[in-house]
Amino acid sequence: MSDPLHRAAPEASDADPRGGRRGAQDALQDPRRGAWAKYWRMVVGDVGAGAFLWYELVTGLFGDWPGALGYWLRAKFYPRLFRSCGRHVVFGRRLILRHAKRISLGDDVILSDGVVLDARGQAGDGIRIGDRVFVGLHSVVTTTDGTIELAEGCNIGAFCRIGSYGRTRIGRKALLAAYVYIVGAGHETARTDIPILDQPYTTRGGAEVGDGAWIGAKATVLDGVKVGEHAIVGAHALVTQDVPPYAIAVGIPARVTGSRLDRSPAGG
Ligand SMILES: CC(C)(COP(=O)(O)OP(=O)(O)OC[C@H]1O[C@@H](n2cnc3c(N)ncnc32)[C@H](O)[C@@H]1OP(=O)(O)O)[C@@H](O)C(=O)NCCC(=O)NCCS
Repeated sequence: MSDPLHRAAPEASDADPRGGRRGAQDALQDPRRGAWAKYWRMVVGDVGAGAFLWYELVTGLFGDWPGALGYWLRAKFYPRLFRSCGRHVVFGRRLILRHAKRISLGDDVILSDGVVLDARGQAGDGIRIGDRVFVGLHSVVTTTDGTIELAEGCNIGAFCRIGSYGRTRIGRKALLAAYVYIVGAGHETARTDIPILDQPYTTRGGAEVGDGAWIGAKATVLDGVKVGEHAIVGAHALVTQDVPPYAIAVGIPARVTGSRLDRSPAGG
């Protein structure tokens, strides 16, 4: 794990949805707080000393343990870190877990090496990961005061980023290729006398990827947009508007170029 007290990257993930200020980042930079309090708040949130010490102990001892023994140790000791955890969950090496008491894991979930799960905040339901979900190498799933659902059996490729300040859902058996970005928020830009960074953040409620949809490599789905069930979004697309179920959409901005239903031998 890198230095836990590093300055958070200047991304919308640190905005405060209610106050419009960059709540988490401001808290980390508040000179009135000690380093210990900042660390505690950042990694585990408002939990008791027991949960905090357990987090420190098991992630410190086993988080970086290589090989099969590392997987075994994490499978044994990591489940208690979470709000709930199903059976046979695979915990990769060097996971970064934030506010894990707001994260639920189903059965047979696989979290690959370097995955980041961050469910900070008080509102919303945090992160809910259904049965048989696969999260690929170094993907980031992050919400502040929101809810992210990765529904049963969906597959998140490597190096994806899924953010939310509202409610974001990746549907059942949906497939996200590598480097997909599901955007969770934007920034107010009305004032020109102060930096955008200091203006309130905005959200359109979160994005949704329907059941069975396929999002191609490096595509971006903007906040407030729904990709319909079983639709296809081409590689490198920028999805700014809803995509109907079974549609194929490509380009920047993404435009619908056809429907899978027209190609299906069964006609649907
Ligand atoms: C979108 C996709 C599924 C093909 O859909 P399709 O409707 O069968 O597309 P076609 O190959 O028939 O091409 C139709 C048109 O769209 C264009 N097109 C296809 N994919 C495109 C893309 N990703 N971006 C922009 N244009 C694209 C084609 O050039 C073609 O243009 P033309 O009519 O001017 O010649 C495919 O191109 C794609 O992007 N797949 C994602 C691959 C991926 O990310 N894999 C990761 C592993 S999970």
